[in-house]
Amino acid sequence: MSQPEQKTLDEVATLRAELDDANYRYYVLDEPRMTDADYDRRLRRLQEIEAEYPDLVTPDSPTQRVGAPPDAGFPEVQHAVPMLSLDNALNEDEITAFVKRVADRLEIDGETIAFCCEPKLDGAAVSLVYEQGVLVSGATRGDGRTGEGITSNLRTLRSIPLKLRGKALPDLLEVRGEVIMSHEGFEALNAKAREEDAKVFANPRNAAAGSLRQLDPKITASRPLEFSAYQVARIDMARIDDSLLSTHSKQMKRLREWGFRVSQQLEVVTGSQGLIDYCRRLGERRDRLGYDIDGVVIKVDDLRLQRELGFVARAPRWAIAFKFPAQEQTTTLNDVEFQVGRTGAITPVARLEPVTVAGVTVSNASLHNADEIARLGVMIGDTVTIRRAGDVIPQVVRVETSLRPEDAREIVFPERCPVCDSEVERLEGEVVARCSGGLYCGAQRKEALKHFASRRALDIEGLGEKLIEALVERDWVKTPADLFRLDAECLASLPRMAQKSSDNLVAALDKAKRTTLARFVFALGIREVGEATAANLARHFGTLDALMGAEVADLEAVEDVGPVVAAHVHTFFRQPHNRDTIDELRALGLTWKEEAIGERPQPLAGQTWVLTGTLESMTRDEGKERLQALGAKVAGSVSKKTAAVVAGPGAGSKLGKAEQMGVPVLDEEGFLERLEAWESGRETEQ
Ligand code: IVH
Repeated sequence: MSQPEQKTLDEVATLRAELDDANYRYYVLDEPRMTDADYDRRLRRLQEIEAEYPDLVTPDSPTQRVGAPPDAGFPEVQHAVPMLSLDNALNEDEITAFVKRVADRLEIDGETIAFCCEPKLDGAAVSLVYEQGVLVSGATRGDGRTGEGITSNLRTLRSIPLKLRGKALPDLLEVRGEVIMSHEGFEALNAKAREEDAKVFANPRNAAAGSLRQLDPKITASRPLEFSAYQVARIDMARIDDSLLSTHSKQMKRLREWGFRVSQQLEVVTGSQGLIDYCRRLGERRDRLGYDIDGVVIKVDDLRLQRELGFVARAPRWAIAFKFPAQEQTTTLNDVEFQVGRTGAITPVARLEPVTVAGVTVSNASLHNADEIARLGVMIGDTVTIRRAGDVIPQVVRVETSLRPEDAREIVFPERCPVCDSEVERLEGEVVARCSGGLYCGAQRKEALKHFASRRALDIEGLGEKLIEALVERDWVKTPADLFRLDAECLASLPRMAQKSSDNLVAALDKAKRTTLARFVFALGIREVGEATAANLARHFGTLDALMGAEVADLEAVEDVGPVVAAHVHTFFRQPHNRDTIDELRALGLTWKEEAIGERPQPLAGQTWVLTGTLESMTRDEGKERLQALGAKVAGSVSKKTAAVVAGPGAGSKLGKAEQMGVPVLDEEGFLERLEAWESGRETEQ
């Protein structure tokens, strides 16, 4: 085998440093710089070189994250320091009692004691050992003394450093933390599993634990897992300035510098009131964190005091877990209703005996589709466990079959549409059943019209949900074209419609006739064609006729359009009734600017925006897309160059940083106002 040249060795070193740095920026600093495509390109190049010169492969090379060959089984690993559990505090009085116990034992005033507070992450605990700064072993908690060696699996997590950053590194470091799966990652994993008839996980904790215990590390590598560090179990201090490590919070800061992700919510507070306030604050933010937490872990911050307090049985005296209300509850499934969506998809919805889950009353939950009903084996009358996490739609996760009543009824999936009585079809290989009625189906018609009139489609002001329902129920409107044939007189005869509002609506309809091609294409409601795809199609083809005449291959040439979307678009424009509706709309006076590439106004070109916290009227992704459509870049972190920060409820450190740096901050209302002004072309600059 040939020896690598110096040039190759240098390239390997650069690629590794760049890849490590990209991970650090993404996972620890939350300030991504490298795009996924750039990351993948560098990783592939490194893989190529390592394939040519296998001697260059090291265990800490970023290529080792993609997954080693499957293990025969997991070896036992003895924990040098046992992994303990924590005592619980179930209410605020028990927090006060904990502070008193600590204070009494230390013989100091409890109100002067500093505590480090952090979220109690709901995932799987793991322990990582680093020798000379390199990850050498990783294990599960097991029974606390003996765990399972899952090093190859843990190496696949990009938030676990394979080697520590910096120069002054400990000879030995054992770090503990939690492997979690975000709500977003969990939903995506389960959605894919449902499609593929694979195993669906009940909650992110099971999904994280299950993903870590795969014998094939490639499976672990494909799962959206993240590691967050919360404890230094062992450290060889010989080469470390130990004054930097005298408290737990300083240790956590050090871990961050060494390349670990540590909770952003970590705070040091004093006394029992400080603790109670933190627990309340985090409780309020819980729904918006994007991952499951089941409480707050409270730790005496000073490590000297921790040592003085020591342990009882299997838990430390210096820490306690304050528990939040559970995110899972059991209740009764009273009935199942079938809802028909815009594309005819029929979704079974569980009607539940109302129950409070983590502070919110839940009376409906999605059952997704017929396969999910079969998988759960659920019947009407069953006692079911439901789960609600953040904004995610409540889910039925389990059936308590031992509690099944004698009169439990089977759930029968309808063979005909519950709204229009058309046949229900389930295409080969598809999990979703659909009403075949198309726009004949009142439910689909209503949804299609709502979409057509919505703000980001044709933006017909005053044409709300109730009005559309009234128009469809009277059969006055069958297709979007019929909307433009309505006159003020007949509208005024509808309940709750005064002459003035019907005049306004006619004026709004008239105004909506002048639109853009992108909005029009989006308004048509073609399956899987969202706003961004519609804009890409409009930009690519320039005119509606060109788009309507495009073949599948032409469509696939458009940015972000794959074979599925291309097929949907192609089929849509081949349907005579769709072509007729489009002809009618044009005859009724619908016109649009046919914008060619580069002609779209970009009032925010050259600006970088940051979105933080939650938005109520749209998802963050939607906000991002709309900003990008106006030419802005959207970044994950605030710097002096940031043009503006949009801060919704739950905004954290980014808001503070913006205020500190004097970067303009907009709330949701202000943001919407500006967006609409720019999108309508009323304003051309910020
Ligand atoms: S500290 C000796 N901090 O909670 C104290 N544990 O009952 C060691 N956990 O299974 C634990 N988040 O995996 C600590 N911020 C956090 C935590 C945390 C979650 C889990 C841990 C363990 C359990 C302890």
